[in-house]
Amino acid sequence: MCGIVGYVGHREAYPVIVKGLKRLEYRGYDSAGIALMNKGLTVYKKKGKVSDLEGFIKEEQLKSHIGIGHTRWATHGEPNDVNAHPHFSASGKLAMIHNGIIENYSSVKQDLLNKGYQFKSETDSEVLINFVEDIKNKSQCSLEEAVRLALTQIVGAYAIVIMSEDEPNKLVAARKGSPLVIGVGKDEFFLASDATPIVEYTNEVVYLNDFEIAVIEDNKLDIRNTQDIPTTPYIQTLDMELESIEKGGYEHFMLKEIFEQPKSVSDSLRGRLNAAKGHLVLGGIREYANTLVNADRIIIVACGTSWHAGLVAEYIFEEYCRIPVEVEYASEFRYRNPIIREGDVVIAISQSGETADTLAALELAKSKGAIILGVVNTVGSSIARITDEGAYIHAGPEIGVASTKAFTGQVTVLTMIALRIAFRKGTLSKTKYHELLVELETIPGKIQKALELNDQIKYIASIYKDAKNCLYLGRGYNFPVALEGALKLKEISYIHAEGYPAAEMKHGPIALIDEEMPVVVIATHDSSYEKIVSNVQEVKARKGQVIAVVTEGDQLMPKMADHIIEVPATHEALMPLISVIPLQLLSYHIAVMRGCNVDQPRNLAKSVTVE
Ligand code: M6R
Repeated sequence: MCGIVGYVGHREAYPVIVKGLKRLEYRGYDSAGIALMNKGLTVYKKKGKVSDLEGFIKEEQLKSHIGIGHTRWATHGEPNDVNAHPHFSASGKLAMIHNGIIENYSSVKQDLLNKGYQFKSETDSEVLINFVEDIKNKSQCSLEEAVRLALTQIVGAYAIVIMSEDEPNKLVAARKGSPLVIGVGKDEFFLASDATPIVEYTNEVVYLNDFEIAVIEDNKLDIRNTQDIPTTPYIQTLDMELESIEKGGYEHFMLKEIFEQPKSVSDSLRGRLNAAKGHLVLGGIREYANTLVNADRIIIVACGTSWHAGLVAEYIFEEYCRIPVEVEYASEFRYRNPIIREGDVVIAISQSGETADTLAALELAKSKGAIILGVVNTVGSSIARITDEGAYIHAGPEIGVASTKAFTGQVTVLTMIALRIAFRKGTLSKTKYHELLVELETIPGKIQKALELNDQIKYIASIYKDAKNCLYLGRGYNFPVALEGALKLKEISYIHAEGYPAAEMKHGPIALIDEEMPVVVIATHDSSYEKIVSNVQEVKARKGQVIAVVTEGDQLMPKMADHIIEVPATHEALMPLISVIPLQLLSYHIAVMRGCNVDQPRNLAKSVTVE
């Protein structure tokens, strides 16, 4: 969480930084701040959004060719002007932006307090910049050396960028655990938490690694590790279109991303699936395909929506590959001394590739000898880089905090992996394999058809927009979809929502049902259809309001449910890719009608880089 931007070069820094911060606002929007070198080192910062900060700075103060900026998701200290970044050191000569958490900040702070330092904010970040200054003063060393020495004593996660009034043309940056990308332009450099603020200016980037410190001065980039050993920057070419990070005429990124799914799922399939030829190639897992075929079990680690995609994968891997799968919340897995055997396969699923818990779970698995694979969206992200192998989902940048196209991309890629492994293992017949490949190829078109229900779903949203609670029920492959539907509703509309396996309802949640309770039931035509029909009857008997997502042509459900949303038929293993679409749209419209900030829901951030 938190977005950071830096610039040094021939342009005016302010517009580059403000635009960059707006692109990174999905990472946190509690406060925003900028430091510029304008008649000395000056910091402007304010609670609220980047747009609040813009109105607050006067034009003449903005001239500078170097600067840093920050958009905050609060960890230490409430969102206010004082806790906003950048933070000054005690002398006012250093300013720093930070994304991450300094875990040992209180002991470092105590040492500094004993030396007479005073702190204005409650943040761990202000402690770090004072710690750097203290070392610099004591050792009479360069800024980068002081940063290096400080970081050897710091525990936690950080991506930082520091400016110094004494060295007005220099930026010093470092990372451990939080992402930092350096854009290399002609006579200019950009720093950012991800590539979106950079892509407009250059497509040449360097992804800083953990324990690396970058110094940018006099048009040169010098990177060393915390042992002071220089490394040669590895410049990569970005594969990102500017339009992919803009709203493109949609009112919100979330809506754009929902509507992009026919294309994003096609992009996930492209170059991998050719159903006519019976080809399914996943270059990213070539080396470990045999390991997967022979695996005694697979552990999936993920958080949030990615965890739901993992649950869908569990069903498909177990059904077709006959490999036991455990789907773990990364945050629980890493802290509960899990049993990991040498050769176990651990798959991480992550849109951002930066989720701290997922990353730490993978590191733990790796340290115990597991093979670690990734299903990730963000190219070059930390998870993508630490995994042994993996497959990108190629969904393109997802900016809306509520994950939509990443879910369908993850499920698509995991489905391809499972089918490939099952066929290779011999647990899936050639006929069935081909049948599933052919069906998989039709999914983008069927998602498109599901999107055509938008107006109808908007109407249903208008009926339920004032609900206080909502229950989502599904069985089999549609159970994770029920969880995902509930998560979408609660995170953007702030309506309390629960997802449940439909059969579990009678073990407790049924007590909640009355005429005030909307119940979204995913009741598509599959092997548990008859069972879920009974569950709908149970809801109706208690006067619950049923919104049923059904397969086109369903004759029974329209007689029972209050509202019917008909989606195209597909194989039940692939249905989550379609049945989730109406639930995404329903949440979106309800949130908009309630006046919620859909793309930036309260208290949330897109990329959860704190534990
Ligand atoms: O980037 P990741 O996929 O690792 O993120 C995991 C969760 O933080 C994320 O899915 C979150 O739950 C979303 N807000 C859900 O819409």
